[in-house]
Amino acid sequence: NFLLANSKRLNSTASGISSFKTASKKTTQQPTLSSYVTDNGKKNVVILGSGWGGISFLQHIDESKYNVTLISPRPHFLFTPLLPSTPVGTVDEKSIIEPVVNFAVKKTKGNVSYYEAQATKIDHKQNTVTIKSFSHVNHLGSSKGSESIKKNDSADIKYDYLISAVGAEPNTFGIPGVEEHGMFLKEIEHSPKIRKQFIENIEKANLLPKGDPERKRLLTIVVVGGGPTGVETAGELQDYVDQDLKKFLPSLAEEVQIHLIEAMPVILNMFESKLTSYAQKVLEQTSIKLHLKTAVSKVEEKHLIAKTKVSETETKEELIPFGTLIWATGNKPRAIVTDLIKDIPEQEGSRRGLLVDEHLKVKGLDNVYAIGDNAVAGLAPTAQVAHQEAEYLTKVFNKNQIGSAKPFKYLHYGALAYLGAEKAIANITYGKKQLYTGGGLITFYIWRCLYLSMIISWRSRFKVMSDWLKLAFFKRDFFKEL
Ligand code: FAD
Ligand code: NAI
Repeated sequence: NFLLANSKRLNSTASGISSFKTASKKTTQQPTLSSYVTDNGKKNVVILGSGWGGISFLQHIDESKYNVTLISPRPHFLFTPLLPSTPVGTVDEKSIIEPVVNFAVKKTKGNVSYYEAQATKIDHKQNTVTIKSFSHVNHLGSSKGSESIKKNDSADIKYDYLISAVGAEPNTFGIPGVEEHGMFLKEIEHSPKIRKQFIENIEKANLLPKGDPERKRLLTIVVVGGGPTGVETAGELQDYVDQDLKKFLPSLAEEVQIHLIEAMPVILNMFESKLTSYAQKVLEQTSIKLHLKTAVSKVEEKHLIAKTKVSETETKEELIPFGTLIWATGNKPRAIVTDLIKDIPEQEGSRRGLLVDEHLKVKGLDNVYAIGDNAVAGLAPTAQVAHQEAEYLTKVFNKNQIGSAKPFKYLHYGALAYLGAEKAIANITYGKKQLYTGGGLITFYIWRCLYLSMIISWRSRFKVMSDWLKLAFFKRDFFKEL
């Protein structure tokens, strides 16, 4: 096991191992895992999540000052900004994920443990997190031969400080049929699913005669949500059709129709109107059909119902058949977060996540912090915010300024979005100072350079650069399965 093989390079957290028993041995009490170290005088910091918040925190925390435990069911970090490029193979899926262990093994100055497990409950009175093993637990810091909890076992982890960075999950707004018939693009495993469905539909459509309504349906892709995820995904899919599919199935490629459906009057509403108008023009030029002021209200297996606001009082209902449906309408909090909210009076009524104070401390609790998409700090749920929050909090922890630090201050570096056809829009800022605003081919190269610089490991940076270089000479890797 690769993860366990690397454990030798990490220091042991073996003290207190006798308190650990697995649930499979029918213990009456929930076992408490041994990563809670009591004999080295250091506080135990437990991080939930291996995304932008969790991994940035792990990277910057001084492990010589704290015993650090990271818990996440996802054994890799995902560079989300390039996720829309992966379903069509512009960038390979493996290029934008990085094993957690690659970050953990660099922390050689202290106790660092990683559990591949899901946190199911935070008990803020007992200072424990209950975890459930996702596949199995890789207790990187345990001593040789020590037990590890088995699949589906539960255990408690004690903490002195808890950093909640569990992110959020796709929001369907309870619209019927979305979960069953739609696909999300939030995690890396969503990407091959989208590709597989699209390829299967192309194959089926190719066997049907031109003009057959079933052929038309199979070649219709609907993307719901005109935020950056929806726009970038639609743009990448159209790139594949125009640049690759047209070369080997030209007549079929011409029949592919991508629809982008947005409930608001504009797409990409975080950009100024000059840029959103430009974005709309580019999408329409590349033959993506835009439906603005249109909300999807119901999804069936082969079609959806969309309602367009035609005037203040009138809506028009349309049935849109689809072969592939991608749902990108934003986020909602995870169950572990909503459960915790219900348990804390100071969090009452919070619908979007954990309310935090100016030091990112969860309101109503003394030793729990929240960063990234699961925190409500008056900022957008972006990687940029999660990363800066993690950097700030580690500085506070590393300087022993807990309770006495200056408040967190966010510095906005702007926003970027890829539109397809080698065109992007960008609004680059330094706080309130505007540095660059533009759209087109040059902005596309700026977009590429800035994304390369944002990638948090040299391994991934190198892989993404070689994917882009490969694309200059060859077609995309568009495999149904590997
Ligand atoms: P995440 O990065 O989502 O990480 C959450 C982690 O928690 C994951 O490892 C997850 O497995 C883990 N977890 C979940 N449940 C549990 C549990 N119960 N116990 C323990 N761990 C758990 N932002 C930008 O600034 N720029 C961009 O270009 C950009 N592009 C994006 C493109 C896409 C397609 C998407 C979906 C998002 C994009 N974002 C972008 C937004 C950005 O990805 C998020 O804001 C960011 O990931 C938030 O970081 P986080 O750590 O809060 O959550
Ligand atoms: P989002 O919340 O930004 O956009 C979702 C869109 O879906 C909204 O415009 C909303 O009006 C629309 N919508 C909701 N319900 C609908 C319905 N029933 N029918 C039609 N439209 C509906 O979500 P997104 O794009 O997933 O982004 C999430 C976060 O990640 C944001 O903060 C975003 O800024 C960030 N992000 C940033 C990127 C970038 O900077 N390039 C790329 C992707 C995400």
